[in-house]
Amino acid sequence: MSRIVYVNGEYQPEDQAQVSIFDRGFLMADGVYEVTTVIDGKLIDFDGHFARLERSLGELGIRNPMARDTWLEVHRELQARNGLEHGLIYLQVTRGAPGDRDFVFPDPETTEPTVVLFTQSNPALVDSPKARKGIKVITIDDLRWGRRDIKTVQLLYPSMGKMMALKAGADDAWMVQDGCVTEGTSNNAYIIKNGRIITRALSNDILHGITRAAVLRFAREAQMPVEERSFTLEEARSADEAFMTSASAFVMPVVAIDGVALGDGTPGPLATRLREIYIEESRKAAI
Ligand code: PDD
Repeated sequence: MSRIVYVNGEYQPEDQAQVSIFDRGFLMADGVYEVTTVIDGKLIDFDGHFARLERSLGELGIRNPMARDTWLEVHRELQARNGLEHGLIYLQVTRGAPGDRDFVFPDPETTEPTVVLFTQSNPALVDSPKARKGIKVITIDDLRWGRRDIKTVQLLYPSMGKMMALKAGADDAWMVQDGCVTEGTSNNAYIIKNGRIITRALSNDILHGITRAAVLRFAREAQMPVEERSFTLEEARSADEAFMTSASAFVMPVVAIDGVALGDGTPGPLATRLREIYIEESRKAAI
């Protein structure tokens, strides 16, 4: 069945939707995106994703083309039109499509941002077989640009990292800079040592994960100590447990790093508990 997608104010069947070949998202990766999860037909952390979208657009000087309530309406309409129960809603805003390719930004008065949204269904989102087994990561150098706090669509290196992981028989890659882990290719990275949850502090080095903010809040509420600081590759390999977070994976236990099993090589108790808490609390707060 063909999906209904949203392009610049219109709901259309996916095979009829069009964006200009001059779009700066296509030519220059000049755009930002968000991924909001849907559970039981409801949006998880919509306001967190909206706030980060505004920030990303602001940092790049792209006008936010819609007010919060309009964004919400479009998300809900797409969810309803596609009968999406479990999955995600992807949104992308680019600087638009001026007449010619040019490094200079087009005049925002005459070039409208391009807005695209679509849904992706994933019935196994909550009861994920991967989460029951845990995932394996490799580590790679972090070769991305210096503004990883902006959620841009420049995803080539993360995509290459994921391919390096698959080639090595793992599921994902954690990126390393100056001996410390920054984050995963599409997720934030955590280790647990002696009951303490350790994750890199917010800066331009990492994306400020919406799931990260929620999980750290839930962890503190559950009296689990949290340290927001950089951790080395050696610390990671000798951790008791590890996990990663993202809107689409929630809390995902990591059971091996660079082929070294953590603990007994199965999802750790704290990561497992955090996943349960995150899903339970997010379901309660979904809109
Ligand atoms: N990725 N770090 C990076 C580099 C990411 O791409 C993501 C999200 C995160 C986690 O952010 P959040 O908790 O807000 O999803 C961290 C999305 C899910 C993606 O690209 O599909």
